[in-house]
Amino acid sequence: MPIPTELILKQMELGPMANFLYFLGDKHVREIAIVDPAWDVGYLCAEAERNNYTVTMILLTHGHPDHVNGLNEILSRYDVPAYISGHEAPFLMPEHKNIIPVEDGHKIKIGTIEIKCLLTPGHTPGCQLFLYKNVLISGDTLFINGCGRCDLPGSDPRKMYHSLYNVLIKLPDDTMIYPGHHYGPTPWATLASQKKTNPYLTCANLEEFLHERMGV
Ligand SMILES: [Fe+2]
Repeated sequence: MPIPTELILKQMELGPMANFLYFLGDKHVREIAIVDPAWDVGYLCAEAERNNYTVTMILLTHGHPDHVNGLNEILSRYDVPAYISGHEAPFLMPEHKNIIPVEDGHKIKIGTIEIKCLLTPGHTPGCQLFLYKNVLISGDTLFINGCGRCDLPGSDPRKMYHSLYNVLIKLPDDTMIYPGHHYGPTPWATLASQKKTNPYLTCANLEEFLHERMGV
């Protein structure tokens, strides 16, 4: 299934850690969310202006600095809400008046595009995915042929297992996964392909996953 024709989806690789940032929005009204503003706010603003997009919100997959280090600067340019999971660790929660904590399953509208937030703790307590039809922004929960580290402050490999095997893998096979970093062989992939080639989605049980992820 192709990318929905009404959806703006622009993937941009920025910064020294191969972060993927995204514009997600409504083609008809040219309104966008910027997902995980970091590294080069000047570039993001120039791209939005060049395409004649109106930035109406910020979406945050989680609170790690490489995903939010442009947040204050971008909010100084666009006075818009910035949505993050309310379950993010207090030490990773950005402080700004425009921050709006959201719950699992929360729906956010960009123009007529309704994005669903899916809570997937593991890499951090408040990692969330953004889903629209068959397009999934997977943040640092799932990379192409990889998954987020689970040995950082606030990480929990058991929760990551639950997030991957009881939430993410339950999505339709034709879901297109757009990750938070360019760590894999391709910038995106379908869930069907990841169920075959991603070592963190092909574990038989929790023990195998813990061995694969944590080496225990
Ligand atoms: Fe991260």
